[in-house]
Parts: sequence; C-alpha cells; structure tokens
Amino acid sequence: MTLTGTKVFAHRGFSSQYPENTMVAFQASADIGADGIEFDIQLTKDHVPVVIHDLTLDRTTTGKGFVRDYTASELKKFSAGSWFSDTFKAETIPTLEEVLIWAKTHSLTLNIELKGSVADRNLTVATVLPLLKKYDLEERIILSSFDHKSVHTFQKHNPFLETAVIVAAALYEPESYLRHVNVLGYHFSYVSLLDEEVKALIKKGFRLRPYTVNEERWIKKFFELGCDAIFTDEVEKALRIRGRMI
Ligand code: G3P
Ligand code: MG
Repeated sequence: MTLTGTKVFAHRGFSSQYPENTMVAFQASADIGADGIEFDIQLTKDHVPVVIHDLTLDRTTTGKGFVRDYTASELKKFSAGSWFSDTFKAETIPTLEEVLIWAKTHSLTLNIELKGSVADRNLTVATVLPLLKKYDLEERIILSSFDHKSVHTFQKHNPFLETAVIVAAALYEPESYLRHVNVLGYHFSYVSLLDEEVKALIKKGFRLRPYTVNEERWIKKFFELGCDAIFTDEVEKALRIRGRMI
C-alpha cells in the first residue's frame, strides 16, 4: 500500500457540511471526489431498509420516536435536513433502494452499516441481500456492523460480499477473531489502536479503516500507516491532505 492508496470515505455522507445520511450529502461526496460513502441503515415498521443513524427520529428529522414504529411512506413526510439548515429542508430519509439506484450512475464504494434493533437482525439480512443482488452492486459494497452476528450471517449467505466488523475498543486477539468471523475489514475507533497494531494487521492482509478521523494530524497518520480507507466528516480536508502527500 502506497501513501496515496488510502481511500477517503465520507462518513454519513459529507456530514461536516451537509445533513448526515441524505442524498444531498451523498451527491456532494461524489462531486468533491470522495472514494466512498458510509451510511447507516435500519428497517421500518413495514420492513423497508432506510438510511438514518439513530434508532429515533428526534435528532436528525422533524419526526419523533423510533424509526421502526413508522412505515417507509410515513417517514417520507419528515424533513431530514431542516435540523441542519433551512437550505436542506426538502431532504427526506432515503431508502436503501434510492441510494442503490443513485449509486448505479456513480462509481463510489458504498459502506452500508447495519444499525437497528437486534430483533430485526435476520429480517434485515433477508431484506438487504436481495436488494444488493437486484442492483448488481456487490463488487463495490462493504457491509459492516457493530453487530458481528449480522456481519457473519451476511458473509455466510453471500461469501463474495466484502464485510467488516466495527469495534469501539480494541479486540483482545484481533487476528484470530477476524478470521473466526470471516471478515477482511476491521473498522476501529481511531484512538483505539497503537500504530504497531495497525501495521501488523495490515501486513496480515486485513483492511484497516479508522473512524471518524477529522483532524489533520490523525488523517496524515492513517495515510502514512497505509490504512485501506479512513472515515471522515471532513472530506475536503482529507482529500487536500492526501493531494499534498502524493
Ligand atoms: O462505520 C463507522 C462509523 O460510522 C461507526 O460509528 O456511530 O458513526 O455509525 P457511527
Ligand atoms: Mg456509521
């Protein structure tokens, strides 16, 4: 991996400048030249995968209560942009399908992070897998989650799909654990691993991707370590730094 090989993934879209997990954020990520977008999905009451981070609507939409208590068409009535700025009040909660259709005309990698209730685990797998197949985007999708059981189930049903576990703190024996879950990707909180731990796992062939890296010194460091990608809200800054390092 060269210095320039690290990709820049827009965390929740370009979320320092656009409302997170919205189509306008994804389009802005593509326009500025990000290599990929990361976004969070969960199921609605009528089992439609939709793109939103929190289990509840309150922080990022004009709705209230749990996402899974609403149908997809009920959710469409809420603004997903006005909390950020009035300019974006027309933004709604995207469905996964809308993002996949959009992605067909763009070349970015899609990191789909499974959120939602563990009670919906099997249903999420059963709903999402056919959608990925339908749009034939599996080659540029990374499926990840803090819920490693979901990741493993996805991997089992579609061994060709790239998967990753997300961790908030370092795993005790990461190499054997990653092999056990059968994933290549290790998405870790950017302050949770020592440089030598990152390097050793990269050397073993794992794809190390820290989140959420917004400060210049950390961005540079992960580029230098040769991570596969970084997740950042500061897409423009990260691309500029990478440009200077080439
Ligand atoms: O997938 C990396 C990162 O997005 C995990 O944290 O809370 O931003 O979804 P969160
Ligand atoms: Mg996420």
